[in-house]
Amino acid sequence: MRSSAMRDLMAITARPEVISLAGGLPDTSTFPSESFAAQMTRIAHESSAEALQYGPTEGFEETKACIVEVMAAEDMAPDPDDLIVTTGGQQAIDLITKTLVNPGDPVICEAPTYPGAVPTFCSYEADVRQVTTDDDGMRIDELGELLAVLAREGRRPKFIYSVPSFQNPSGVTLSDERRRRLVELAREHEVLIVEDNPYGLLRYDGDPRATLYSLDGGDYVLYLGTLSKILSPGIRIGWVAAPPPVLEKIGLGKQAADLCTSTLAQYFVREYFGEGRWREYIADLVEIYRSRRDAMLDALERHFPEQSVWTRPDGGLFVWATLPDYIDTTDLLAKALRENVAFVPGRAAYVDGRGGSSMRLNFSSSGEEQLREGIRRIGNVVAEQVALYETITGEHRTEPQPDREVEPGGGEIVPMPKRR
Ligand SMILES: Cc1ncc(COP(=O)(O)O)c(C=O)c1O
Repeated sequence: MRSSAMRDLMAITARPEVISLAGGLPDTSTFPSESFAAQMTRIAHESSAEALQYGPTEGFEETKACIVEVMAAEDMAPDPDDLIVTTGGQQAIDLITKTLVNPGDPVICEAPTYPGAVPTFCSYEADVRQVTTDDDGMRIDELGELLAVLAREGRRPKFIYSVPSFQNPSGVTLSDERRRRLVELAREHEVLIVEDNPYGLLRYDGDPRATLYSLDGGDYVLYLGTLSKILSPGIRIGWVAAPPPVLEKIGLGKQAADLCTSTLAQYFVREYFGEGRWREYIADLVEIYRSRRDAMLDALERHFPEQSVWTRPDGGLFVWATLPDYIDTTDLLAKALRENVAFVPGRAAYVDGRGGSSMRLNFSSSGEEQLREGIRRIGNVVAEQVALYETITGEHRTEPQPDREVEPGGGEIVPMPKRR
């Protein structure tokens, strides 16, 4: 078992003097507290006994109806019977892995991948293979080679895990062409895809992309969703859409894990969606987060040294920055914490220790001034390291790091260039 870097950091970054760009937290202070009070009061008055009771393992029909609405906003039309409500998207990842993976089974994911999935894959002893990501998402040519290598070895991966839109941690989005190719490859090789899409509705620029689930029709794609980023992570409501035989096994896993997802949280979701304003709330979040993203990108331009690169996400909550390869962001974090600022070191997004000079930066949970100040502080710490390196070596590099040739499935970090 491995610890989750983000969870570990949460204890340190809870100190009020720390500007944390480490968490993946949405800004829940934007949710109107009077609405919350009214919704919970209605539940207490009208359905207290039911809301305090156990519920069905697969979730209430009313919760599934809300999920169908959310998925419809991205042009998906699942059968409610193909859904199971989970305790956050995190539990969905856990249950899918528990259901499908035996020790040593290959699982393919992006490089870098969602840091919270790494401890899950490791705890079920998956043989995790990571495929390089560039500015258009997972490199499908490399994925094809890896599938061919595995096929020659007589091994079939249990699934390909992807966060195709505004990926956590890189912020990049899989292009339309690659989405089509990914779904085709999965069909050709008869491999399941696990599409994890917490951020699809948090788009700040550009046009929506078709989900893998809608491109595939739900045969080979298991779809994970969550209300964490568009409503609240505290209510812990996520879901899986999957074909019935897989869903049945996931349901057995969930019975063993927690019997059912919080009934009270599901009643809250029902009340909230019943008011019919959930789309407006997301529209408000989009406005707020777009400005924060822009503030962070502007601050990076001002305060990070020329030897660094970073992504420019069209949505989601994260920017991924890569520094010169002689800087280790795990060490840098210790220095940054002394300046009361935090980020997630890149290694957390890899299974094998790579990602050492990258970092994940969150822009949703701090105000614009704090973001600028946080980036200024990190920039200062980085500048000290660069100056030290240049003094010792006498070198002055302007490029972040060279591209490297890699074996299929041994994807290295490609520094994702800034879009000018
Ligand atoms: C890609 C991805 N999947 C899953 C999760 C888990 O979210 P939750 O369990 O709150 O739904 C997150 C949270 O940051 C995430 O970024």
